[in-house]
Amino acid sequence: MKKTLLLYWAPGGSVELAAKAICEEIGTDKVEISDVASFDISKLNAYENFIIGSATVGAEDWRDTKDNNKWNEFFVKTREFDFSTKKIAAFGLGNQILYPEHFVDSLGYMKRQVEERNGKLIGAWPDEGYDYTDSEGTANGMFFGLALDHDQQPELTAVRIEAWVDLLSEEMDF
Ligand SMILES: Cc1cc2nc3c(=O)[nH]c(=O)nc-3n(C[C@H](O)[C@H](O)[C@H](O)COP(=O)(O)O)c2cc1C
Repeated sequence: MKKTLLLYWAPGGSVELAAKAICEEIGTDKVEISDVASFDISKLNAYENFIIGSATVGAEDWRDTKDNNKWNEFFVKTREFDFSTKKIAAFGLGNQILYPEHFVDSLGYMKRQVEERNGKLIGAWPDEGYDYTDSEGTANGMFFGLALDHDQQPELTAVRIEAWVDLLSEEMDF
């Protein structure tokens, strides 16, 4: 069994709800969960699997948000961290009706940050069943991780999580 850590930002909304549901699906005894701001970065190397969750907030640039996005701080602090031996998967929350041109852009940001640290995202997810026009979080009909639209398709959140965790379990050996 590999050690798995789920990190998410922000607390108190749909990202946290999805983060907890993913942990339930994996089995809460098999995964540790923390919001990214509370996590002690010096412990990062103790884990082999990482699941990272974010929301896209800010239609033009998701980092341009009034809220402090703690993912930015995390990636500044881990600039020198080498993710090459780790399994990493991302999930992203968005709203395809209100932001069809920037749907789950944060998945693209996550991918770039992970790749800059020699990592690679697993758990790409087909974009069938979503209605959007553009996204930084997709290429060739696949999102770079699990896309969730809990605003517009709340009834699909649980089934998507279930199928995605199944997919991850093939590579993550929870
Ligand atoms: C100010 C604001 C800007 C947003 N911009 C985007 C966006 O560009 N793309 C997108 O897919 N969703 C966007 N959303 C939708 C959120 O990502 C979505 O509601 C998400 O579930 C919020 O997660 P939270 O409840 O954990 O904060 C935006 C929401 C807000 C409030």
